[in-house]
Amino acid sequence: MRTAVYPGTFDPVTNGHMDIIERALKLFDRLYVVVADNPQKNATFTAQERVGMLREALKSHNSRLEIEYFSGLLLDYAKKKKSNVIVRGLRAISDFEFEFQRAQFNREFAKDIETIFIMTKDDYAFLSSSIIKEIAMFQGSVNGFVPAVVEKKLKEKFGK
Ligand code: COA
Repeated sequence: MRTAVYPGTFDPVTNGHMDIIERALKLFDRLYVVVADNPQKNATFTAQERVGMLREALKSHNSRLEIEYFSGLLLDYAKKKKSNVIVRGLRAISDFEFEFQRAQFNREFAKDIETIFIMTKDDYAFLSSSIIKEIAMFQGSVNGFVPAVVEKKLKEKFGK
């Protein structure tokens, strides 16, 4: 069985992430979507909220997906799941340096774990969770850029 881990902060999940998940599901039999912490970011949503939004948005794929929060090193999570592939999305050259450094680090410490990159769909190349939150904060519409559950949660968080 081919398995892979798709990690992210997912604060919140966007249609850009959803596209990567759907495409990764074509390549792997089982995908572990793991909500992890990037210590350089202060998350707006709690880990529980981030997992909840992902689960709701992906409920129709549930049999081949496992969605959970993990606090710790990504490599330890991949080993725990006996998965030797990490999937990441790449949007633009600006993502490259960050991703390259992390992929190199992970390779250094676990030679049998490979990071593979899926190029983000053009329609979502400009998206980011921060931009979505900024638009929602100023009462703009995020319709079409995030799953319905996220749109609802953003309204609850930032709506007047
Ligand atoms: N389309 C559109 N936007 C996308 C996207 C796509 N396909 N893929 C990612 N993005 C955006 C996200 O919305 C996010 O935007 P933001 O910066 O405004 O929040 C940004 O790109 C990247 O976020 P995401 O992929 O969700 O997570 P991340 O880069 O913050 O995740 C971890 C980093 C969690 C994977 C990393 O910190 C980690 O592995 N943590 C665990 C601890 C560890 O092992 N550390 C050592 C690692 S070497």
